[in-house]
Amino acid sequence: MPRQHTYDLVIAANRLPVDRVVGPDGSSEWHRSPGGLVTAMESVMRGREGAWVGWAGEAGEAPAPFAEAGMWLHPVPLSEDELQTYYEGFSNDTLWPIYHDVIVPAHFHREWWQDYQRVNERFAEAVCEVAAPGARVWIHDYQLQLVPALVRRLRPDLRIGWFNHIPFPPVELFAQLPWRSQIIEGLLGADYLGFQRSADAANFVRAARQLDGRSTRGETVTTTHPDGRERVVRASSVPISIDYAGLEQLARSPEVLARAEQIRTSLGDPEIVMLGVDRLDYTKGIRHRLKAYEELLSEGAFCPPEVTFVQVATPSRERVEAYKRLRTEVETTVGRINGTYGTLGSPAVHYLHQSYPREEMAALFQVADVMLVTPLRDGMNLVAKEYVTCRHDLGGALVLSEFTGAWHELHQSFVCNPHDIEGLKQTMLRAIETDPKDRRRLMRASRRRVSEHDVQRWADRFLDNLASAPERPTPKRA
Ligand code: ADP
Ligand code: F6P
Repeated sequence: MPRQHTYDLVIAANRLPVDRVVGPDGSSEWHRSPGGLVTAMESVMRGREGAWVGWAGEAGEAPAPFAEAGMWLHPVPLSEDELQTYYEGFSNDTLWPIYHDVIVPAHFHREWWQDYQRVNERFAEAVCEVAAPGARVWIHDYQLQLVPALVRRLRPDLRIGWFNHIPFPPVELFAQLPWRSQIIEGLLGADYLGFQRSADAANFVRAARQLDGRSTRGETVTTTHPDGRERVVRASSVPISIDYAGLEQLARSPEVLARAEQIRTSLGDPEIVMLGVDRLDYTKGIRHRLKAYEELLSEGAFCPPEVTFVQVATPSRERVEAYKRLRTEVETTVGRINGTYGTLGSPAVHYLHQSYPREEMAALFQVADVMLVTPLRDGMNLVAKEYVTCRHDLGGALVLSEFTGAWHELHQSFVCNPHDIEGLKQTMLRAIETDPKDRRRLMRASRRRVSEHDVQRWADRFLDNLASAPERPTPKRA
């Protein structure tokens, strides 16, 4: 693609869709970045022309901008210090716990906040550099909450939208943030704010009213410009999704079908394969599902080699203390379960701390008789949607936590409360024992929902909402 200097559509996200990984010999390769944001936005941007502003995945100088898959990628540098303060610190040790029900305590450090502001300014400047006059700017997630107002200050000609991939917390939790007013002000620089659930949008509107004295009405918040003019910002839900058609087609390919059979054979052809696929994150409820599985084994509800459990845990935020602790706990538990219940050649848990290509994930989903999606809190959880999409055979059963955004769409699954270990165990058994005819009915309904609400529909809805958001500032009424 020939380089253009500016674009009509600009994406800003903490990460670029690809990470630069430097090998021990100094050679560098580009790998797909982890997480649901990239999965979704990669599909959305296929076939659309635009620029993507983000970090290239390693500390230090940013690589030069380059074209990739029809997009112009514009790397933003992060120093080693900023990686620790803006990314690991403020984004993932302050905001992430607050926005996920304080499952672990949030840490507050003024230096982290300073760097969060500085990095947000850098992102805003980069956005303005590549945005054409009147362009649409689509900012993503909790790492960039100040960018909307910063961009507006620099470029009032731009149409600015922000989407939160994670939950927005109830006002009682958000109130803990010493910098809550600055965050609200940063977000109100947008024309339109999109959230996963209507409860998230309502939480934001309530926070703006109760903590920052803004005037609100339904889905809107009124903000006043320094010149006294008022602007109305809309906040509503637009639940994210996946590329249903693309993934379904991949899952039907002879290569993926053959790989699924191969995986099942290499697992020892068990009667029941349970599967978990997550970033290794404490929000995902991995410990809870392992506990339930271990108790079922100890009670003799089933045992290997008839049953096995595959847990794929993508490495994530490995230098943050809470993530280190989680990894130790998970790996200790897996070791204990295997030591107690495994047999030679038949471990009770297959634990894989690695990333895989899409084809391998699609094959794994087809092998899973029971898919365990048990987050304690999750904005959406695309894995749940990917699983049902790959089950074109209508086989398998989805055990889904009621604390995911996905549950609000996939009611036709085996719902669980992961905190209730006894209940989770019963649900896992029910998923195995339910009449296959009934399971097929549930799977068909879930697949229909995802096929009708795919990622393109999500992107179109977001961009329509951005386009129809209240127009330019109106003069303040006397
Ligand atoms: P999050 O954004 O919190 O990581 P999601 O479930 O919404 O959670 O999205 C995770 C995405 O990452 C999905 O597209 C999933 O298929 C992908 N993924 C998860 N684990 C792996 C892995 N080990 N290898 C490759 N892709 C993975
Ligand atoms: O969706 C939540 C999210 O934090 C995204 O912002 C990100 O793409 C993904 O999870 C992975 O996290 P990280 O970029 O910190 O590895």
